[in-house]
Amino acid sequence: MVQDAGTRAAGLGEAPQAGQLDAAERMSADELAAVQLERLRGTLRHAYDHVSCYRKKFDAAGVHPEDCRSLADLASFPFTTKGDLRENYPAGMFAVPMTGIRRIHASSGTTGQPTVSGYTEADLGTWAGLMARSIRAAGGRPGDVVHVAYGYGLFTGGLGAHYGAERLGCTVIPASGGVTGRQVRLICDLCPRVIMVTPTYMLTILDEFERAGLDPAQSSLQIGIFGAEPWTEHMRAELEERAGLHAVDIYGLSEVMGPGVAQECVETKDGLTVWEDHFCPEIIDPASGAVLAGGERGEIVFTSLTKQAMPLVRYRTGDLTRLLPGTARPAFRRMERITGRSDDMIVLRGVNVFPTQIEELLLATPGLSPHFQLERTSHHHHDELTVHVEARAALTPDQRSGAARALAAAVRDTVGVRVHVSVAAPGTIERSAGKMRRVIDRRDL
Ligand code: DLL
Repeated sequence: MVQDAGTRAAGLGEAPQAGQLDAAERMSADELAAVQLERLRGTLRHAYDHVSCYRKKFDAAGVHPEDCRSLADLASFPFTTKGDLRENYPAGMFAVPMTGIRRIHASSGTTGQPTVSGYTEADLGTWAGLMARSIRAAGGRPGDVVHVAYGYGLFTGGLGAHYGAERLGCTVIPASGGVTGRQVRLICDLCPRVIMVTPTYMLTILDEFERAGLDPAQSSLQIGIFGAEPWTEHMRAELEERAGLHAVDIYGLSEVMGPGVAQECVETKDGLTVWEDHFCPEIIDPASGAVLAGGERGEIVFTSLTKQAMPLVRYRTGDLTRLLPGTARPAFRRMERITGRSDDMIVLRGVNVFPTQIEELLLATPGLSPHFQLERTSHHHHDELTVHVEARAALTPDQRSGAARALAAAVRDTVGVRVHVSVAAPGTIERSAGKMRRVIDRRDL
């Protein structure tokens, strides 16, 4: 499994040749806008004609698909929310009869009614194509061995990555999540160049390598395509250094399609290129719903442009980010790494705290590992937040309390709120085999 440095570095960080890109990726901004408008008008008509929820909402808002004459006109159409999907569970948002649906996935939401997504055969083909495009943008190439450790099943991660890698011409190891010892064994034996996994489960895999006395930086892995949960630049540095690979971000959500809505390009590592020929993004003020100007932070909203089974018009994701001009794919805008979801935001005594802010700070604190959870409690209506974080190695009691004090001070100085910090022994914080549960709420509500 050991490779020399020259082999490992070969082909990394290089932009794909123009001939390797999809024709769509080479479009000019004007060409892209024309394609978007035509597809948008088709989507609005399809949604209005075949989904009663859209017909009612458009009628109530006094808008008709024919009113959309420019991309800016989209702003006059009503939003679609997770509530609409729940109310129309399971198949009320489908725009084709069940006989035309080839596959169903469901959201990973742990609370309330699940939401399902349906795909026609053409939708599955589009998704595989966008995932192939995403893996190539991440640095994957035909002939690569791709280890998929996203969960297979109702979650879109495993199957989405799987069909995309096959479409690109790769060999897929469909490992799914869990059984971490076997993941390490498969990586050592089958020498994948690419791994697709949540960043927190990658940490678990790296720990397992080290537990087995192996150096993960010496493995065959050169590219990690990490997503499905928020992660930070400090986590990128941690994963790149420990695993000896390029760590790039992938974004998506099951309602909109699954992974492959946006992908970070390995040659720039500067946020995620939104595949705007298939999804039209807008950033809105989460409170007022007003569309914000380019570069402003807010909630990202997507309108699907090519989906047949379940078209989505202005779907409110709850994910907070901003849109930036294109770089590696000049016509396509980028979205900044997601800070978090509006539902993950902790309002602690009036101050907004995101788990990603804590991740940045603890990874900058010597002696602390990236394994952490946040516990919310309340005493006499006074909210408290405790950061439970693991030490990197066995620390003396003095070193532990020093690291705890340093992190609490960093949170107070940068986030502006007092938190408790409890530094635990290595191996004591819950490990994820997929999406990590960052916040445990123990308040008496
Ligand atoms: O997590 C799809 C996916 C699978 C994306 C594999 C990337 C890789 P859901 O389970 O429906 O779908 O969860 C979607 O996860 O609204 C975000 O809040 C969060 N999320 C997804 N990707 C990222 C990311 C999949 N790169 C929800 N950074 C989304 C931050 C992400 N959050």
